[in-house]
Order: sequence, then structure tokens, then C-alpha cells
Amino acid sequence: MCGIVGYIGRRNAVPLVVEGLKRLEYRGYDSFGVATADGRINIIKKQGRISESCVDPLLLKGCMGIGHTRWATHGVPNDVNAHPHTSCNGDIAIVHNGIIENYSEIKRSLTAEGHTFLSDTDSEVVAHLIEKYYNGDILQAVFSAVLHLKGSYALLVICSSEKRVIAARKSSPLVIGEGDAEMFASSDMTPVLEYTRKIIFLEDGDVADIRDSKVTIYNNKEPVERKSELVEWDFESAKKGGFDHFMQKEIFEQPDVFFNSFNIEIPEKAVADLKKASQITVVACGTSYHAGMMFRYMMEKYCKIPVRVEIASEYMNFNPCKNSVMFAVTQSGETADTLAALRSAKNENCITFAITNVLGSSVTRSADHVLYTRAGPEISVAATKSFTAQLAVLLKIVSCLCNDDIEVEISGMHPVIEEALLYDAEPAALICRDAASLFFIGRGIFYPVSLEGALKMKEITYIHAEGYAAGELKHGPFSLLCEETPVIALCIKDDSYPVMMSNIKEVKARGAPVIGIGSAGDIDLEEICDFYIPLPKSSEISEIINASVILQMLAYKTAVLLGRDIDKPRNLAKSVTVI
Ligand code: M6R
Repeated sequence: MCGIVGYIGRRNAVPLVVEGLKRLEYRGYDSFGVATADGRINIIKKQGRISESCVDPLLLKGCMGIGHTRWATHGVPNDVNAHPHTSCNGDIAIVHNGIIENYSEIKRSLTAEGHTFLSDTDSEVVAHLIEKYYNGDILQAVFSAVLHLKGSYALLVICSSEKRVIAARKSSPLVIGEGDAEMFASSDMTPVLEYTRKIIFLEDGDVADIRDSKVTIYNNKEPVERKSELVEWDFESAKKGGFDHFMQKEIFEQPDVFFNSFNIEIPEKAVADLKKASQITVVACGTSYHAGMMFRYMMEKYCKIPVRVEIASEYMNFNPCKNSVMFAVTQSGETADTLAALRSAKNENCITFAITNVLGSSVTRSADHVLYTRAGPEISVAATKSFTAQLAVLLKIVSCLCNDDIEVEISGMHPVIEEALLYDAEPAALICRDAASLFFIGRGIFYPVSLEGALKMKEITYIHAEGYAAGELKHGPFSLLCEETPVIALCIKDDSYPVMMSNIKEVKARGAPVIGIGSAGDIDLEEICDFYIPLPKSSEISEIINASVILQMLAYKTAVLLGRDIDKPRNLAKSVTVI
């Protein structure tokens, strides 16, 4: 779960690689490094964030370079464990994203052959393995080395005496950008889009020989053709555009994102496969899992089709989905747990759907059908607009299968989401800021909304927050309630309203302050809560979306008050490519 960038062309590689790494910091940000080759390998690598450091382009020269921003898996974040790693003679440098599962075995045998290792990482073995096979041609050496690697890798390799960057991919993303007499390689396309929109998505097993004006791609050592795709995402959308944080910007993009995502076309063959489904299984992690849970409520309510929703990493422990339909919901399309669950469903003859935001991501290579959310690049580690986009696509599926009324309901929602965005969450955030712990409660579809609200809050504020089914709080967690544990209650005027009101009273009777989020004009709710947040008046679906949006803003404002590192919360990375 790291980011890698490579460049070869006519310009100084260093500023390009450094800027590219800054855009990939969402993938990891505990240390970084850059290497160039100009007859010899030059390296700078350090613990810390590249966005907060200064890499002097004059210290490293060369029109060919590679770089890395790290999320530690093997070895603590420090200068030595930072990438690039080099061969014993210092002539070969590599950067790696992924995990080399058999690195201990390789390290033992290379050590016995006389290689000396400096770091605690799994990745360093790759540099030494390539050195072992190097005989004047770095491409051939990489071909030989990758045969020994088990696990996952996106690799970039340079050699002091050759003018080429070698890239190799297995189960970790890697794209190549084709510029004008210059080439880029990167974990995703965001660092490349400023220079070119012609992107090649490497496939598993591909090894690419990248020269300044040409790339040759091999699989099993045989040349293969990989056509470049013209990517629509623009570079501007990956910038903050006047907002203080990417998260804030992404929250504000949601009205458009919702509509663009709802308006996708679902291909006829996909609709036909969906119509055959007597049961649907959804696998996902984190925020995407919550979107999956919400889909279950909608599907069962409108279409009466049973939906099973599993946390992807737990999916293996239950009976597999057999001969039916599986949805893998994943913003990045690279989440290892979700990919593993999807692959196992394929082995059980399931028809698989990927719902993802990233063109060409790994999940799109594995699934039978791909439905793209139209959120655009999401940079903040905390998922916001991608969640709304997933809900929109999932709603589109419900609408397509069994309820055209949704389309009508949705048509008037744009201004209603905009109205929710005007809400000033600061007074409520002031209550949350001083909390020892927070509970988010709801019933029905507002239960997963509350789970998502709690996830957002804990992720970016570091305040312990738990989402609970409102009826479940009395079965244990009541013992935790006190003045320091505010409860955020989602209490909308639907069928569960009367019991929800009772739950709020029970909470109040135990001394916990309540922030009630409910339908506009609900005087009863306003009266019993310590703080009341009215949702703009509209339809049921808009209340679901707006409650989610307001919880995102509440988490955001609380994190601002606490001075947290909002877009890059500690210990996290956006794309979780390890199991
Ligand atoms: O890319 P994915 O949707 O598969 O990612 C799944 C989770 O890692 C992700 O939603 C995570 O929970 C978010 N950072 C939460 O804001």
C-alpha cells in the first residue's frame, strides 16, 4: 500500500517524480525516496512525508528516475527502510508496492550467496535478486527475478548504465502514461494526468520496458499489445481548488457526483444477469461495506430480492456465494480483501459485478460486469463522495430492476443536497470535540448511515466512536453512557420513528447528551434532544443522503476544531492492498 512513480524523458526527472509522489501520498506517507540514474544511481530517502520535505533537484540529476511513498508493512518507517532499495554494488535501484510473501526464504539464500541486506523490508530482496541475474540487460534480469517472487508487486527498476525503466506488475496497480517523447509510470493515473491522458493499464504478469519514446510490454517474456486508453478525469479535479482540505472539497462535490453516478447506463447484458438473480451477495470493506448494507435495505424493500452483505475479509469464513450474483463494491478497485472474495465467487460460478470508481483498476479485470461510479478522483483518505456515488449506482440498480419511481424521486434532489451542504455543523462539532466517546444510532437504513457516521468520526478525529443499531444499545453499551458520551441519533419520520423516540428518551434518562438528526420541523424531536439538526424537507432518499452528508460535515468540523491531519489521518492509507 505504497505509491510509486517513474519517469524517463528529456526533463529533469526529480521534480516530476516528487510532484507525482505528493499526489500518491494518500497511498501511504510514512517515508519516501527518489532515485535517478545518470551513469550512476543517486538516491535520497527519508522518514516522513514528501509533502512536508524539500528534495533539492540539484542533488539528484538525471532524466530517468523512480520514487516511492511508503505505508510500512515490513520494518518500521525509518530512513533505511524507505525505498528505493539498491543492489550490493549500488547499480540497480528498485521501488516496490505490494508484499513479497517469500522474502525470508529469498533473503536467506541470497545472504548465503554473499549479498548484504541493509533494511528490514521484504522489498529489498528484489534489488538483490535482479543483481544476481544481471548480465548487461536489466530487462532479462527482471524477467528472471520475478519468477522467484510470491505475493504481490508493482515494481519500477532502474540501472545505472541503461537508459530505460523496467516496470513489472502482479496484483498491485501500475499504469504507464505515454507523453510526447517522455513516459511516466505510476500506481495510479493522478500523477500522470497533468502531462498526458494516454494511459496504459498493465495486466498481471506484465513486464514493461519503458524507453523515452516507446514502451514494449511482455507477458511470459512474449511481447503483448496493451492499447492506451484516453482518460476523462482531469488534472484540475485532483487539486484542492480553494478548499482547505480535499475532504471538504469532496463533500461539496456530492450533488453533482450523485447525479452523474445515478445517470450511468447499465448495459443490457448486465440488467439481464441481474434479473435472473434470486439472491445477491455484496462484499466490501469500510465505507463501501456500509453502502452495501444500505443497498440491502433498498433491495429488500423495493425488489424483495434477498441480499447478503459480507465484510470482504470475513467472506471466506462462510458458505460461498454459489451460482448466483456477487457485487464487489470498492472505490479504489484495489482493496485486497474485496478482490480475494470476488475471485473466490468466480470460482463458484457466480456472475460478478464490480462497482468501482477507478478505470482499469484490478477489480475491473476480474469481474464479469463493471459499473463505474462517477465520483472523479477522491484524494482524501476518508471516503465521502465515493460513498454517495456508490449509493447512487446501487439505487440505479434498484430503480432498473423494480422501481422506476426512484428516478422521479431523485430528479428533484440536487438543490436539497445543496441545502444540506449549507448547514453549519460547527455548534454540534463543539459538543463532539470534547467527548470521551461517541455513539451513533439509527434504525432501518439509518443504522448503516450511523455506522458510516461513526467510521468517519473516528477515522479523522481519533475520538472513539461507535455506530449501533438503536435497539441494541440497551443490550450492553448503556453501561457506558454518561455526560461525556454524546449520542448522535438519526430519528427520521418513518415507520421506526416512535421506537426511535423511545430509544432517545432511554439514552437521555442515563445522562448522555443527544444530538438528534431528523426531519425538518419535528418539534417533538427538537424538544427532547440537547441539539437538533433538521434535514431539508424532501423525499425519503434525500433524507438518507443528507443525513450521510451532515454526518460527514460533523466529522470534518470536529477534526478541524481538533487540528487533525484531515486528509491523511494517522496510520491509514486510502488504498488497502494487503490482506
Ligand atoms: O477502495 P475501497 O472502497 O475498497 O476501500 C474500502 C475501505 O478501505 C475504505 O472505504 C475506508 O474504510 C475509508 N477510508 C473510510 O473512509
